[in-house]
Amino acid sequence: MRRLPDTPIPTYLVETQASANTHLADELDALLKERPRNLVLGLATGSSPVGLYEELARRFQDEWIDFSFVRTFNLDEYRGLPAGHPTSYRTFMAEHLFSKVNLGPRNTHLPPTAPEDLNEACAAWEEELRAAGGVDWQLLGVGRNGHIGFNEPGSAFDSRTRKVELAESTREANARFFEAREEVPTEAVTMGIGTILEAERLRVLAFGPTKAEVLSKVLRGEDDESIPLNALRRHPDAALFIDDAAAAKLGC
Ligand code: F6R
Repeated sequence: MRRLPDTPIPTYLVETQASANTHLADELDALLKERPRNLVLGLATGSSPVGLYEELARRFQDEWIDFSFVRTFNLDEYRGLPAGHPTSYRTFMAEHLFSKVNLGPRNTHLPPTAPEDLNEACAAWEEELRAAGGVDWQLLGVGRNGHIGFNEPGSAFDSRTRKVELAESTREANARFFEAREEVPTEAVTMGIGTILEAERLRVLAFGPTKAEVLSKVLRGEDDESIPLNALRRHPDAALFIDDAAAAKLGC
């Protein structure tokens, strides 16, 4: 793993995705030992975190790392999918992590999506997050348009948890998880950028050629506030982990 010089957000080029996953699992392991009873994790879905979740599940099996007191808050959830839908993010998390380690359902939180009083429900969800002590360690992926969570380009950097419309490029990118593109919801609820920036540590995984363009805009370009990933320039402990394909347009 090599730290790239002169990037506005600390960025590490990894030899393999597995080496990034090992590094992040080691960091989590250390935090779990340091704060065994009150660790709060912010979690992401999508392709980027799958290998890390596999590594955490392996360590739970082989090394007994203990999640029984960990609380988790996910970045986002689609709106309009019935409970238990195979592509809801609750189902994704159950399949990839929650059912693989000792994380009880009472300790796992996804944003509320029920139609009535959504604003109130989002505010209450944020209050729950605050009462838990806030996020100690937040995992993020990045959209090919630079979104973080489902904060699409143009989202305010002080935005809070709320209902959002998904960009067409996001629906297209996520169509691979659905049977047909039309099935991809048009709305979601996401933690806001302001909410995300309150986490103590932010760790971003960006792998593959579809991330190269936006990474070159953020890491080699101006501080353009229409690209949500640029918000991380304002965070004291953020780090990006990228592979060769994602780094292809950085000239390194
Ligand atoms: C998912 C999320 C999104 C994804 C992003 C990248 O909870 O918040 O921001 O992290 O769309 O997705 P993948 O990892 O599938 O490329």
